[in-house]
Amino acid sequence: MSSTTGKGPRSNLPPGPPGWPIVGNLFQVILQRRPFMYVVQDLRKEYGPIFTMQMGQRTLIILTDANLIHEALVQRGALFASRPAESPTRLVFSLGKCAINSAEYGPLWRALRKNFAAEVVGSARVKQCGWVRKWAMENHMGRLKEEAHEKGYVEVMSQCRLTICSIIICLCFGAKLSEELIKNIESVLKDVMLMTLPKLPDFLPVLTPLVARGQLRRAKALRKKQMEILGPLVQARKGFVESRGSPKSSSFDMASPVGAAYVDSLLSLDPPGRPDGLGEEELVTLCSEVINAGTDTSATIIEWALLHLVLDQKVQQKLYEEIVDVIGHNNGVVSEDDLEKMVYLNAFIKETLRRHPPSHFLLSHAAREDAVLGGYTIPKDANLEIYTAWVTQDPALWPDPEAFRPERFLPGGEGYEVDWTGNRGVRMLPFGAGRRICPAWSLGTLHVGLMLARMVHAFRWVPYPGSPPDPTETFAFTMVMKNPLKAVIFPRC
Ligand code: HEM
Repeated sequence: MSSTTGKGPRSNLPPGPPGWPIVGNLFQVILQRRPFMYVVQDLRKEYGPIFTMQMGQRTLIILTDANLIHEALVQRGALFASRPAESPTRLVFSLGKCAINSAEYGPLWRALRKNFAAEVVGSARVKQCGWVRKWAMENHMGRLKEEAHEKGYVEVMSQCRLTICSIIICLCFGAKLSEELIKNIESVLKDVMLMTLPKLPDFLPVLTPLVARGQLRRAKALRKKQMEILGPLVQARKGFVESRGSPKSSSFDMASPVGAAYVDSLLSLDPPGRPDGLGEEELVTLCSEVINAGTDTSATIIEWALLHLVLDQKVQQKLYEEIVDVIGHNNGVVSEDDLEKMVYLNAFIKETLRRHPPSHFLLSHAAREDAVLGGYTIPKDANLEIYTAWVTQDPALWPDPEAFRPERFLPGGEGYEVDWTGNRGVRMLPFGAGRRICPAWSLGTLHVGLMLARMVHAFRWVPYPGSPPDPTETFAFTMVMKNPLKAVIFPRC
């Protein structure tokens, strides 16, 4: 669909597969019936590091090359830091782009992101909220034992999702919720994520008005459900803050002091472009994005990490020995301060992120004005899709890229000095890079490190013979194991 003749921003688009009239490449993709990233992997071989796909009325420019990605996200980061127009379905949930991830690059985004950075992931707040992780980890370890006792195995993904979700919900609302309520919130928010994945009418609204209307109706019904489950928590926290922390003000167990929950900061935030401040709807949107952004990503990493630990007992033993070295045999529990001293654990997490980045694409970016990249035009209204998985699969950047070797990230290894935030150059970018880099990457890795260290310290993990580990992957918002990992655990003495 690219054109190299004519004038205007569309006359010099990157090359790409020829499409059909009106629908472009849309049906060529749909008819393949496989995740979009596999289509992109094949097209990259044919069209190179930057190419165009015309998906109905949307133009997608796909970027796969490490140097071009660095140029777009870091060297000329401000130019490519916006987000594209949202579909009507997504607008229902983002409330007209009033969320960090979807806001256009500008004053609203800056205010929301700055508040989040200070109030949720700032080092003082992370320290203050250490008890949340302690509480959630105690529940987690208890649940692992229970499940192993009842079923003979542990299902890693669902257990880890629940624990991380409970941590982030508590960071948002300051409340210790029951397992049942956490599970309900988790399930509604998962539906929200699925609902907001791109669908046919998002690409061809003109040709599919009836389907689009049905989709919008379903989105509004789900939004109502989301408000019904999270609205009461916002109200309860508001009452708690207004009563200056009176425990009688709420039926929830408000365990965080006033000022320590994300909602508390949002109640008094006056971001530009929202003259009436932020109401209950906005708070539900902003907390939902944080819960969704932080849960699946971290749980996915832990599941892949445990796959490698059950498959390679030597790696697991090495990790265990390091943990014991740092904290001693019996003095109990891995603390957050211990994690920094665990060099092998950190290398192991980096190798897991390199080999299994939870998302193969960043969130869609957009140029703030028509721009030129790699010699081609990137129109302002196109989606710039950054395919990051290729960067860590490229044998020119990573020798033997399929092999799982944490040693790559130890002194002398080819990854030892790699900057995983992509700032000094792109060799891996599990969190993105530049202006839009994940603002919670350090909190996310804290969750992952803490859970792995606690789980390996307490148990030896081995494959479950009834369902041998299968590394086949599938797309479920993140790239997860198609057959969720089941493992047998033996308490270590
Ligand atoms: C360790 C697991 C995590 C991974 C791998 C991860 C990865 C990412 C990626 C790839 C992006 C998109 C960057 C871009 O579009 O350029 C992102 C954005 C974001 N993430 Fe994370 N993330 C993780 C954990 C978290 C956690 C724990 C939270 C919240 C508590 C969070 C909140 C966000 C938000 C709000 C954004 C949007 C940033 C913006 O648009 O300015 N993430 N993350």
